[in-house]
Amino acid sequence: MNIRWFFLILALLACFLVGTFATLLAPATSAQASASLAPTPPMGWNSWNKFGCNVSDKLIREIADAVVSSGMQAAGYQYVNIDDCWQVSRDASGTIVADPARFPSGIKALADYVHGKGLKLGIYTDAGTGTCEKRPGSLNHEVQDAKTYASWGIDYVKIDWCNAEGLDPVVQYGKFRDALANSGRPIVFSICNWGVKTPWRWGPATGNLWRTTGDINDTYGRMSLIGFGQNGLEKFAGPGHWNDPDMLEVGNGGMKRDEYRTHMALWALLAAPLLAGNDLRNMSPETKELLLNSEVLAVDQDAKGVQGHRVWEEGPLEIWVKPLADGSHAVGLFNRSESATKMTLDFKSIGAPASAKLRDLLDHKDLGTAQNSYSAEVPTHGVVLVKVSK
Ligand code: GAL
Repeated sequence: MNIRWFFLILALLACFLVGTFATLLAPATSAQASASLAPTPPMGWNSWNKFGCNVSDKLIREIADAVVSSGMQAAGYQYVNIDDCWQVSRDASGTIVADPARFPSGIKALADYVHGKGLKLGIYTDAGTGTCEKRPGSLNHEVQDAKTYASWGIDYVKIDWCNAEGLDPVVQYGKFRDALANSGRPIVFSICNWGVKTPWRWGPATGNLWRTTGDINDTYGRMSLIGFGQNGLEKFAGPGHWNDPDMLEVGNGGMKRDEYRTHMALWALLAAPLLAGNDLRNMSPETKELLLNSEVLAVDQDAKGVQGHRVWEEGPLEIWVKPLADGSHAVGLFNRSESATKMTLDFKSIGAPASAKLRDLLDHKDLGTAQNSYSAEVPTHGVVLVKVSK
């Protein structure tokens, strides 16, 4: 055979083999939730903590307006998420139907409005037969629902785990991963199965975030139980895939100022998704200050994407650290006891140099340079959040 023909046939054969392998490998690639959708933990708002089932087109539009006018959009909050109770039935073709009384112009028109503000719209469903509030679930409608959401312009889907007895979350959430990947629209995928079957282990290959626990509520007891209970899960989080200790209660009125500061500082150290859960239309200056605290938000959104962990504890006193992209460390000195207590951070415990610069992030104050350690009086249920740098 002529040598030219030989190489031509060889090249054709190589193309065929590469093509075949690419086709074989394609489903594996689409089986990854898109990491580019959540390079840092998602930030936004969700209706559930404050409004429960009382959601409507009017509320969502007013909240979107408030995200912009309050400065939250400029601070990085971009998702406006409708939780349970927006849906009522399925039509003859099985397409999910929004409550016509509460959402008279439909979800697509609402998405257009939210997008017009430069924000994104999120929605909620359930992997089982019905949602926790007994609205239709997505079981056996995964592909159809993902397509419907994409056609409406949805940017974020939270998928719950009520009425899912006997189902395997790995299988069911895997179906949504593939359905969303093939929906034709980039959609952030929030897994909400309350930690059932260790979602941190399969979550990174399935969604962009996964709840690690049952629901939060607006008390220091529940918030702190969830937040401080995250230690050890840090190795599963990173850009594109985050542990979710649930949405914020800041501003809902059930906790004291120092307790909400603990909530915000701890969630930032945990690189947790920050979904505000209060009424953004009426925020006290104190609530607004905390939700918009740029130095705390910068810890949460740090590009290194490392979830913090506990480095020291003594009964109800805990020190947590989160390494940051610029080589510095964000450190929280938390006092879970019932009285103000002096706490000391030993620089060696976080690998910081013997002589380090300190900045108070919650109160925006430079604290100068310290040698070997830093001590502060920490209020009851409160925190001192510092940045420790060279
Ligand atoms: C729970 C979920 C909450 C909220 C609620 C709605 O299962 O954890 O965040 O979505 O359902 O019914």
